[in-house]
Amino acid sequence: MQDPRVVVEVNRVRKRFMGATVLDDVSLQISLGDRVAMMGPNGAGKTTLVRCMLGFYHTDEGSIRVAGHDPVAERVEVLRHVGFIPQLPPPVKLTVGELLHFVERSSGTSAESIARKAGEMELDVAKHSQKPFFKLSGGMKQKLLIAIALARKSRLLIFDEPTASLDPRAREHFYELLQSIDYEHAAIYITHRAEELAGLVNREITMDLGKVVVDERI
Ligand SMILES: Nc1ncnc2c1ncn2[C@@H]1O[C@H](COP(=O)(O)OP(=O)(O)OP(=O)(O)O)[C@@H](O)[C@H]1O
Ligand SMILES: [Mg+2]
Repeated sequence: MQDPRVVVEVNRVRKRFMGATVLDDVSLQISLGDRVAMMGPNGAGKTTLVRCMLGFYHTDEGSIRVAGHDPVAERVEVLRHVGFIPQLPPPVKLTVGELLHFVERSSGTSAESIARKAGEMELDVAKHSQKPFFKLSGGMKQKLLIAIALARKSRLLIFDEPTASLDPRAREHFYELLQSIDYEHAAIYITHRAEELAGLVNREITMDLGKVVVDERI
């Protein structure tokens, strides 16, 4: 019987790109309450691993379960439980207003609750609602994606370098918002600035050359 607190189960996963092994026998489990700083040098395989969890990539060997589902075969079910803030924002052509309505219709999360979260990061959604998403500044895109993920109350939050395009003040607001998450969840923060996550995370996973080399509670 699967432990209901386990949100992510990665079992002996291998992934190759054009003959090169990018994930090399990776196994890990992430449960509700785990807040993970995922670290490691450029090219270690961090983004590839989360993309496998989200069903963007097939694995060559091993298996992955997210909220009990196969990310590739049951993508819709998996994405229902996951909020993902990518390293590079997607080139969405919808306006900000249209995007919020799309999220509202597809997930039942009210546009108003998203706007409220965005407001906590000083992004005024109403002011930009007619603007295509891709024309927002890098930091504004990041804030909006963060607001959507938090408003949806996702069981698993995955942030891939979320603060890279935020200015110092926005970064502060972002961390405050994360401290205030008031429902049970698991989170993975891919980061090169672990010191900024102190107090927010309780587990550290380091990858190097496609392997998990450190996995410890802190
Ligand atoms: N779609 C792809 N096609 C081919 N190779 C890829 C692809 N995506 C990633 N790779 C390769 O996989 C390796 C791991 O990349 P990945 O993006 O997972 O690293 P990362 O740990 O996220 O690094 P960074 O800290 O720079 O974001 C790299 O060598 C990269 O070139
Ligand atoms: Mg990456």
